[in-house]
Amino acid sequence: MASRKRGMRRGLTAYGDEEFSLFLRKAFIKAMGYSDDALERPVVGITNTYSGFNACHRTVPELIEAVKRGVMLAGGLPVEFPTITLHESFAHPTSMYLRNLMAIDTEEMIRAQPLDAVVLIGGCDKTVPALLMGAASANLPAIALVTGPMLTGDHHGERLGACTDCRRFWARYRAGEIGAGEINAVNAKLAPSAGTCMVMGTASTMALCTEALGMMLPGGACIPAVMSERMRHAEASGARAVALAKERLTPDKIMTPDAFENALRVLLAAGGSTNAIVHLAAMAGRLGIAIDLDRFDRMGRETPVLADLKPTGQHYMEDLEKAGGLVTILRELKPLLKLKALTVTGKTLGENIAAAPPGWKQDVVQPFRKPIFKEGGIAVLRGNLAPGGAIIKQSAMDPRLARHEGRAVVFESLEDLAGRIDDPGLDVHAGDILVLKGAGPKGAPGMPEAGYIPIPRKLARTGVKDMVRISDARMSGTAYGAIVLHVTPESAIGGPLALVNNGDRIRLDVPARRLELLVPGTELEARRRRWKKPRPRKEDARGYRKLFLESVTQADRGCDFEFLAGEATIRIPR
Ligand code: FES
Repeated sequence: MASRKRGMRRGLTAYGDEEFSLFLRKAFIKAMGYSDDALERPVVGITNTYSGFNACHRTVPELIEAVKRGVMLAGGLPVEFPTITLHESFAHPTSMYLRNLMAIDTEEMIRAQPLDAVVLIGGCDKTVPALLMGAASANLPAIALVTGPMLTGDHHGERLGACTDCRRFWARYRAGEIGAGEINAVNAKLAPSAGTCMVMGTASTMALCTEALGMMLPGGACIPAVMSERMRHAEASGARAVALAKERLTPDKIMTPDAFENALRVLLAAGGSTNAIVHLAAMAGRLGIAIDLDRFDRMGRETPVLADLKPTGQHYMEDLEKAGGLVTILRELKPLLKLKALTVTGKTLGENIAAAPPGWKQDVVQPFRKPIFKEGGIAVLRGNLAPGGAIIKQSAMDPRLARHEGRAVVFESLEDLAGRIDDPGLDVHAGDILVLKGAGPKGAPGMPEAGYIPIPRKLARTGVKDMVRISDARMSGTAYGAIVLHVTPESAIGGPLALVNNGDRIRLDVPARRLELLVPGTELEARRRRWKKPRPRKEDARGYRKLFLESVTQADRGCDFEFLAGEATIRIPR
């Protein structure tokens, strides 16, 4: 039966003669030196996301070797194959713009090749979501393996980490507190080893969420990239992939609504990156599961921040690893978790927690009753400025700005922002609200991490550290500030953000979850009638950019492509 075919017999090239197709395939694969015995084994694919531009994936070659060892010890045949890789600083205009392309590449290569299971190696922010989006749609047994966080650096006795401290030191440099010599010295210390950013940024958050989702072996999220334990974890992941192939444990059995709820709880309790909500929405969307932002906000009211990691707290990922890793958070959250959710171990999340070694005294994860922040890290805002929702990282901002009304200082685009933010003549005061338009999924395009609008230099130099900032952009998970993000619908498609003028009053009320533009409805209607769609750019007319602009959804649906969501998913026969 076609649906039961395994290994080299899967997905044969169509010549109208299956035996000939297999004969031909074996002839070519034997050029790699494989024996007939090897070719009869379950085939485990290993995604190779190494690139000379991706320092976060520097250790991928050695991880591949460790995964291969695990696959072979378990009786499988490991075969690595390349997929796109994305690094935050080397993906113009923004890595988010290319995340869906990586997801398509991953999905189609999993589907195209004769695999029985796949090990997904990623780490840098967009790579883990892209790999899981692709794997969810292909629905072949899959297991995620992250490269792991970097170790911390040191500058004059002060511990440093990418990239919360990148922003902190850059803000000090902009404010004139440190000079060019010192900022250059710091530059060489912020990313001192291979691995992903070691604060609770997007990469760390997605690693924790992936483990909580059940798609990673327990303990895998926090082991630093350069530790030998990371290699043993990779070996175990390879071995487990062989078992997954035999058990036919596919992502749709693991990535269930309950599993996503667990991942969202961990996102809240970790004080994790705002980007994770977009990525989890996209991953869930692949399985026809919608993330309800209002439900997420209600979860936030009952899920406190427990992890004391930058940018919300003090510590770094290697400290969380020393504190026991994710399970230390899971134990505290246990009453709120869906413990029956299945994981790649073949056991439930509850069974995995019970099987973990007992905890010990540590100060990185706080007890549920003595949290770092009494609510979850992220709050969902609604109001006439964001009818489709907006979010704010309430655990990483000046709490005095949680209720704030101010005058809007508007930047019409990223170019406008770059051109005027440091203009000494800019009419801006510390109590104003900075508004950026044109930075959403379609507007920029790709929804860059431009939501962290810099404090105007003239205010920074007077000691202003935080201001309310509002945009349809995203923000790095490593950033800190009273920053309202993901305003939906975005300004480029005529969302209310497009109607804000300089001098308008805006009211932010985080405890009440409100974001209001204090302009009469009649005036807003008149502005709406006068509003003109941004003129298309020359480069919008062809290629991936055209596909992106035509198909990308808004932030609340994960910025995935419309046609890749669950309803359109083609499943591998099984
Ligand atoms: Fe890759 Fe931060 S740049 S994880």
